[in-house]
Amino acid sequence: MNDPEAVAQFHAGGVSSTAMLMVYDFNARALDALLPEGARLLDLGVGSGRALAHLARHRPDLHITGVDLAPNMLATARGLFESEALDTRVALVEADFTALPESITEQHWDGISCMWTLHQLPDFEVLRAALRQIAALRDHTGAAVWLFDFARLQGPGTLDSMMAVADPALPPVLRHDGLASEAAAFTHDELTAELRAAGLGELSSGHARPIPWLQAFWAPRADGRPGGSPRFRPDRLPASARGDSALLRAGFTAKPF
Ligand SMILES: C[S@@+](CC[C@H](N)C(=O)[O-])C[C@H]1O[C@@H](n2cnc3c(N)ncnc32)[C@H](O)[C@@H]1O
Repeated sequence: MNDPEAVAQFHAGGVSSTAMLMVYDFNARALDALLPEGARLLDLGVGSGRALAHLARHRPDLHITGVDLAPNMLATARGLFESEALDTRVALVEADFTALPESITEQHWDGISCMWTLHQLPDFEVLRAALRQIAALRDHTGAAVWLFDFARLQGPGTLDSMMAVADPALPPVLRHDGLASEAAAFTHDELTAELRAAGLGELSSGHARPIPWLQAFWAPRADGRPGGSPRFRPDRLPASARGDSALLRAGFTAKPF
């Protein structure tokens, strides 16, 4: 995902789309709950940085490294973090997270996140390489894990119908991207089986309700040290996104916060 126009649309959607805002809010709350004060977070597939910015704004104690393959995504993320003076705490690395360089794998991490990204992995072999990498990092560091993504639905028209009702103002390019991402995503059962095979069978999981189009898998730190900062306050969402965001949180079958 490196086409400049697609990157710009994705980045713009991160402030205008109700669906994207509620997802970023959900992810920030989950990561806050998993990461103790002063934690070091490794984010796989940082994209244009919107998801991380929702977290980093209200967790000034965190130190974060974001990895992505796409130079244009990284350049946009760099601009966002600089504009919000988050760049002193958020480092960006151009790399493939299915084969991370030693400069990343040798470091200590308290948390590993991967948000809205697994569906971009082209097949099960690449997914397995990504999950093996995450499992090795968790074994090595005891890091908490937070994986969040679309889930492929049984009915091919279901998400389209839902988006028409829930987010009617979504620009066509983001609507198309959302539908393509859902169609490319792994089902909840597929990810559950692959996580188990990768040695990550202990992760908890939940999914959206009533339509299970989003899924999450997570584990606290291996040493049991709880996350959460008393200073954390989620971003104040625009009024248009607040109701949907509350519904997403209430409907999710399980979550770490
Ligand atoms: C849909 S974006 C999500 C970005 C961000 N996490 C968010 O939630 O807004 C997925 C990102 O994953 C990146 N990506 C996909 N496969 C990757 C890989 N194997 N290694 C590194 N980055 C990858 C893409 O370049 C893209 O920027």
